[in-house]
Amino acid sequence: MSSCLLHPRCMLLAALAFLCVWAIFGPSELRKFSFTLPVPAPAAPGHPLSLPHLLIPNGGVCKGSGSQVFLLILVSTAPEHQEQRDAIRASWGGLREIQGHSVRTLFILGEPDNSHWGNIKEVLKWEAQIEGDIVQAAFTDSYRNLTLKTLSGLAWAARYCPNVHYVLKTDDDVYINVPGLVAELDQRGKALKQHLQQKYPNRGIVQGDRKAKTGEKESEGAHSLYPPVPHLYLGHIHWSVYPSRLKGSRHQVSEMQWPSSRGPFPPYGSGTGYVLSAPVLRLILRAAGGVPLIPVEDVFVGVIAKRVGVAPTHSSRIAGAARYPIDRCCFGRILLSSHHMEPWEIKSAWELVRGSLGNGDMPLCSWLQETLGIVRCWMLSWWYF
Ligand SMILES: *[C@@H]1O[C@H](CO)[C@@H](O)[C@H](O)[C@H]1NC(C)=O
Repeated sequence: MSSCLLHPRCMLLAALAFLCVWAIFGPSELRKFSFTLPVPAPAAPGHPLSLPHLLIPNGGVCKGSGSQVFLLILVSTAPEHQEQRDAIRASWGGLREIQGHSVRTLFILGEPDNSHWGNIKEVLKWEAQIEGDIVQAAFTDSYRNLTLKTLSGLAWAARYCPNVHYVLKTDDDVYINVPGLVAELDQRGKALKQHLQQKYPNRGIVQGDRKAKTGEKESEGAHSLYPPVPHLYLGHIHWSVYPSRLKGSRHQVSEMQWPSSRGPFPPYGSGTGYVLSAPVLRLILRAAGGVPLIPVEDVFVGVIAKRVGVAPTHSSRIAGAARYPIDRCCFGRILLSSHHMEPWEIKSAWELVRGSLGNGDMPLCSWLQETLGIVRCWMLSWWYF
């Protein structure tokens, strides 16, 4: 051993081995608990965002909850996707409270266009009445109108759920590990609180200071119930993506919407699941008016985030476009979201995980699975797809 350490070649090998181990098992999110505090440059007030009015406003969802909503999940869905919505309702979307944190799930959609079969409008009305979890805005529901859908959902959150702490935007073919996500967000809030207490030990309620500075108003209860809310834009981040000019492509972005001279888009969180904390949500809504709407919704949010000086935070636990085989440990514990899920797959994943959400029962991951963590899920994904 000691003779090895004297040998340069052997030392180099040891260093390489250490680097490999570090790369695989070391911290995966370097930004994880570093904070850009507190207030990014305020967006110029300027143009208010004008959005289609709401046909089904469903304004009581957050009020009825008694306490504050910690996490609001906005699921982007199409009128005819009732099967997908039902699968979500019967699975992760049914969760209302996790470790004292209140969670709500809502579906956002537009108007069915005329090519859709007959009575879908009536069916949708019934569904909205019975389930009470649908928000519909007055725009034609189409792929190229997804940015309108997202903005309608975000504006709904700011208006009807003013005390919400985090908003997750996702799609109806995604499995969300709600308990995992709540724990992750809670942890970030607690880490911020600790950080602020260390930095400003003499101040009282840390969040009160920030609120006063930014002129935001929020009910007093917020401070005692939950840790403070960081500026957070969390997702599976795509870097250096160039606009597609392909005519007729669902992702086509015109020269007017994003001139080539501006290069690639700023980094953005994949639309399959990104989280905006309440302060970031407000900044984004304030700055989204008066700029060309890029029809790719996740890109648009990234562009506006950049405008208001909010840097996205990457999490490898959010799947992005990757597809994972249904595995109890990956779905229940390691991943926060998983994409490309058929309705039956969402339900089947839920069945697999649900038993362990209560207490007792066997743990979601074995010791080895837990240690391998995301690497094991990547390997499964690579093996199966
Ligand atoms: C988006 O919605 C608006 C308002 O309903 C509609 O006029 C427009 O045609 C829609 N765009 C697409 C591409 O469907």
